[in-house]
Amino acid sequence: MQIFDNKTALRKALDAHRHERRLLGLVPTMGNLHEGHLTLIDAAKKQCDYVLATIFVNPLQFGPHEDLDNYPRTQEADFEKLTSRRCDGVFVPPVSEMYPEGTDNQTLVTVPGLSERHCGLSRPGHFAGVCTVVCKLFNLTQPDQVFFGRKDYQQLQIIHKMSADLCFSLKIVGVPTVRLPSGLALSSRNGYLDEDQLAVAANLYRSLEQTAEKLQHGDNNFPALETAATDFLSRAGLTVDYFNISHAHTLEPATASDRQLVILAAAWVGKTRLIDNITVDLHA
Ligand code: PAJ
Repeated sequence: MQIFDNKTALRKALDAHRHERRLLGLVPTMGNLHEGHLTLIDAAKKQCDYVLATIFVNPLQFGPHEDLDNYPRTQEADFEKLTSRRCDGVFVPPVSEMYPEGTDNQTLVTVPGLSERHCGLSRPGHFAGVCTVVCKLFNLTQPDQVFFGRKDYQQLQIIHKMSADLCFSLKIVGVPTVRLPSGLALSSRNGYLDEDQLAVAANLYRSLEQTAEKLQHGDNNFPALETAATDFLSRAGLTVDYFNISHAHTLEPATASDRQLVILAAAWVGKTRLIDNITVDLHA
């Protein structure tokens, strides 16, 4: 696996692959890789000739009281995992390489509307940070295809819009969420949880499944369903940030005539904030 830590070497190598007409797949990550990330690599390997992962804990997407300093950094283990999945290259820039003039002086990419609900409300500036770094990575690597997890559903929708609005010519692939047998979505932040908290956290997906089932059975009293799920989660020991039944594409509150829905949820287990979602297709 080729390892790059600066833009010039990366651009040069990718230009050579492009010259050979190799299809380039990009998998952006913040590292501390788990099976969720690695399925993105697998999906990319199936579609592309050269797969580049990026590992960059992006300071711009962390709020002042968030876990930037404590975010797990496990570079050697990450390299081994990427190699075992036959990833072709990895870009691991230092912060100075991505933000040579510092983060305060960085041009920002903001996606209106979609960024302003759900996680956007409790994490102001978060999605501008995500979009800015993803936009830089798109420009730097000019991939043919880019792979994101559906686990971060709002992020994926926002990146779709950013890419369309800014005329990127690349294919965005959304990859299904990898879960533990308990249903808990794999996340780097699960590492902050002890065994008891992991059991508590599994209720997040349980509540999504229960609500999805009620929707499939024709219940469309969305506020009542949201309240019931919030109560269930509180009793299970989670502190709910939001539990929202939404239109699957606009992410606006669902209306009775909507057929494609997504339930988006965020909740705290102790000091750890977890997110998850489930899509519900009422045509099915
Ligand atoms: P990170 O949280 O490291 O996630 C990197 C990619 O892995 C994202 O596309 C995310 O949706 C996906 N992913 C995480 N857990 C997953 C799971 N259980 N199943 C499937 N895919 C999963 O998301 C980010 O980093 C950052 O915001 C980033 C896009 C890299 C920009 O900094």
